[in-house]
Amino acid sequence: MKILITGGAGYIGSTLCEYLLKNKHKVTVLDTFMFSNNSLNAYMSDKNFSVYQEDVRNIKSIKKYLSEHDVVVPLACLVGAPLCNLKEDEANQVNFQSIKAMIDNLSKDQYVIYPTTNSGYGVGEKDKYCTEDTPLKPISVYGKTKVQAEEYIANKFPNSTRLRLATVFGASPRMRLDLLVNDFVYRATKDKFIVLFESHFKRNFIHIRDVCRAMIMSIEDQENFSGETFNLGLSDANLSKLELCLEIKKYIPKFEILESEIGKDIDKRDYIVSNEKIESKGFKPAHSINDGVEELMKLFKYLIPSESMRNF
Ligand SMILES: NC(=O)c1ccc[n+]([C@@H]2O[C@H](COP(=O)([O-])OP(=O)(O)OC[C@H]3O[C@@H](n4cnc5c(N)ncnc54)[C@H](O)[C@@H]3O)[C@@H](O)[C@H]2O)c1
Repeated sequence: MKILITGGAGYIGSTLCEYLLKNKHKVTVLDTFMFSNNSLNAYMSDKNFSVYQEDVRNIKSIKKYLSEHDVVVPLACLVGAPLCNLKEDEANQVNFQSIKAMIDNLSKDQYVIYPTTNSGYGVGEKDKYCTEDTPLKPISVYGKTKVQAEEYIANKFPNSTRLRLATVFGASPRMRLDLLVNDFVYRATKDKFIVLFESHFKRNFIHIRDVCRAMIMSIEDQENFSGETFNLGLSDANLSKLELCLEIKKYIPKFEILESEIGKDIDKRDYIVSNEKIESKGFKPAHSINDGVEELMKLFKYLIPSESMRNF
């Protein structure tokens, strides 16, 4: 199939390309290369791979690519609460307006996989699992623009699958150190200590390669996935920040965890999520939190961090 990925040079996109090319799909990436201009180097020799520097806000310019593809995976986005708070107008344009323009320019026989965020659940009810039917109450600009886009796609473009991703972790050609698991393992290996604000806040997590596996499954088994919204996370990893740190400490015993009463987390998310719906379709994650911790520890032995590895 011919697959268009906007934002394909990013953290998820640069790993997704590997999976799609391995499965013999033709892949086109559109990206502004905000953070990385070398995350796609490994794919240049593949005849099935094309890449263009394009801004998704320029619908006139990207229209020609839209019509040429069977599947569109719109990953282009200002990602995360801090970045969207800094650039509210741009977040609205990229995260919502450009998705709306893109959807309005697709034909019914095309298929869209939209990665949204389970941060739409905002602050959950204590001990109650959020399912796909739980009302969305996003609290950040990021969460609000993602939910707006997801709702637009669900209403206007039924031949789509909306994946509500948990916080992603793991290594990628375009590395992100601002994601919770990646950040905590980085601090544990480098600083050997962490100060936790609101350490009881719970979140759900998923490995980047499981995100790619779920996307491939949705593309290659469209009948089973189209028209639906799925939570995508590890069912055994609805963890508080403290619980996550204690998992990491099993590998790095010298990791000091300090809890602070003072200070607030800018990202107010606190919820637990049920992933039963996607599991009932036959999807089974292959990578645990512990796999991720081991893999990240290996990477952080030599990684030279840069500002562009954090989205703010
Ligand atoms: N990583 C996660 O934990 C997570 C969780 C839930 C949902 N998602 C969603 O997955 C998608 C990808 O996230 P990511 O982690 O890979 O983030 P990322 O920041 O690494 O990637 C985003 C990419 O979009 C590109 N981009 C930004 N503005 C653009 C524009 N105007 N035109 C073209 N390209 C533009 C950037 O250059 C970057 O390569 C996003 O839609 C995000 O909301 C991610």
